[in-house]
Amino acid sequence: MSTLPFPSGFLWGAATSAFQVEGAAREGGRGESIWDRFAATPGAIEDGRDAAVACDHFHRWPEDVALMKALGLNAYRFSIAWPRVQPLGRGAVNLAGLDFYDRLVDGLLEAGLAPNVTLDHWDLPQALQDRGGWGSRDTVAAFVDYAHAVSMRLGDRVRQWATHNEPWCLATLGHEQGCHAPGLKDPALALRVAHHLLLSHGQAVPVLRRNAPGAEVGIVLIHSQVEPETDGAADRDAARWWDGAFNRWYLDPLFRGEYPADAVADRVRLGHLPAGDLPFVRPGDLAAISAPLDFLGVNYYSRNVLSGLPGPGGEKPPRSVRMAPPEALTEMGWEVWPQGLEELLLRLHRDYRPARIYITENGAAFAEAPGADGVVHDGRRIGFLAGHLRALARAIAAGVPVAGYYHWSLLDNFEWAYGYTKRFGLVHVDPVTQRRTPKDSAQFYRAVATANAVPDVAPSP
Ligand code: FCB
Repeated sequence: MSTLPFPSGFLWGAATSAFQVEGAAREGGRGESIWDRFAATPGAIEDGRDAAVACDHFHRWPEDVALMKALGLNAYRFSIAWPRVQPLGRGAVNLAGLDFYDRLVDGLLEAGLAPNVTLDHWDLPQALQDRGGWGSRDTVAAFVDYAHAVSMRLGDRVRQWATHNEPWCLATLGHEQGCHAPGLKDPALALRVAHHLLLSHGQAVPVLRRNAPGAEVGIVLIHSQVEPETDGAADRDAARWWDGAFNRWYLDPLFRGEYPADAVADRVRLGHLPAGDLPFVRPGDLAAISAPLDFLGVNYYSRNVLSGLPGPGGEKPPRSVRMAPPEALTEMGWEVWPQGLEELLLRLHRDYRPARIYITENGAAFAEAPGADGVVHDGRRIGFLAGHLRALARAIAAGVPVAGYYHWSLLDNFEWAYGYTKRFGLVHVDPVTQRRTPKDSAQFYRAVATANAVPDVAPSP
C-alpha cells in the first residue's frame, strides 16, 4: 500500500484540556473557575450536566498515560487548571495543585510522551472574574504571575509551552455571544478581552523563556479556511470580514505587531469600537504581543463558507453557509473538509511564516458507542483522520514546517456548552463506570503513529 510519510521526529499526540477531563473539581484545594459557575447556570449546558467528575482524569491519569503509550503516541497536549494552582487566581500557590501536574509530567516522560502544556484553556479562576476577569487589565499581570509559578515548577521538564488556547473562543463565545463562560454579551468587551489575552501572552513569553530555558514557547489559535460562497463582491467581502474577525485579528498582532486595519474598520462600523485609536491598546503592548515565537499551535476543524454582508446599518456578523450535505457534517454540524487544512497551512506559511507549526487540535464528534462485541466501530472518525492526515502530509511536502499533530481528543469528554452530548475521543469513556474503550480510530491512529506515515488511499469504513 502506498503511504504518505511524515518527517522523522514527528510528534504524534492527543489533546485534552483540564476542565474537560480532570474532574475532582473540589479536591486538592482547587478553587472555583468561571466554567464551574457557568455550568451551574440553568440552561447553560445542553444536557444540564457539569464537569465535577468529567473523565476523572485527576485520579485516572496513570491509566490514561498507559493508554497513550499503548497507542504508540509520543506526545500529549494538556492544560493546567489555573484554579488548581491559584485557587483565588492570584497570591498563594496551592502546592497540592502543582504536585498533581508534577506527577503527571513525570509519568508522561517515563512513558516516553513529550508533555505539551497549555496554561490557559478557558478556566479562569472565578475570583478573578469577580474583579473584572479578562476585561480587566489587572488579569494580565495575574496571568504572568501564574505562568511564572507553573513554569518555575515544570520548566525543567516541559519542552513545549503554549500560553492560551483559542483566544477567539474565550473572547467571542464567552463575552460577545455568551454561550461560553462567563456568559456575557458585549462585543466591545470581547475586543478588550481579546487584547488582554494577547497582551498576557506577550508578557508571559519572556517569563516562560527564563523559567524553561531552551523550551519552545507559542500560542494556540483556532483557524478555519474561509471561502466566499460565490465570486460575487458581497460574498467576497463577507469572507474578508470573517477572516479578519476570526483569523487575522489574532495572527496580525502576533506576527506583525498590528491589528488588521480592515477588520478594525468593520468593528468601528458595527459600533463595537470608537473611531480612532483602539481604546485598550497602550504604548508597548503590540511590541510585547509580537515577540518572536517558536511555534504556532493550529486548531483546525472545518472551513467557513460565507455569504454576503447584510446591508449598511443593519450589520450583523455574516453567517456561515452550510454547503455540505448532512452526511458530510460531524455531529457538531461542522463540515468535514480536509483540504481546508492543507490550504490553511499553506496560507499561514505564506502570510505569517511561523517558525514551526503544531496541529494542536483536529478531530470530529461522532457518537459511536461500544457494540455487543464491546468494540467501537467509528469508521467516520477514521475517514476524518485519514483525510486530514493526508492533507497535512501534502502541506508538509509543500514546505510548511509542521512538527507534530495532536488529535482532539484522547477521551470523550465534557464538550463545554454541549455537556457530554458530543464525543470527540479516540477512546470511548462510559460516563457511569468511567471505563475506557479505545475505538477503531485509536487503532488506526496507532498504525499511523507507528509507521510515521498515513495510507494514501481512504481506509474502508
Ligand atoms: C476547540 C476547543 C476544545 C474542544 C474542541 C472541540 O475549540 O479548544 O476544547 O472543545 O473545540
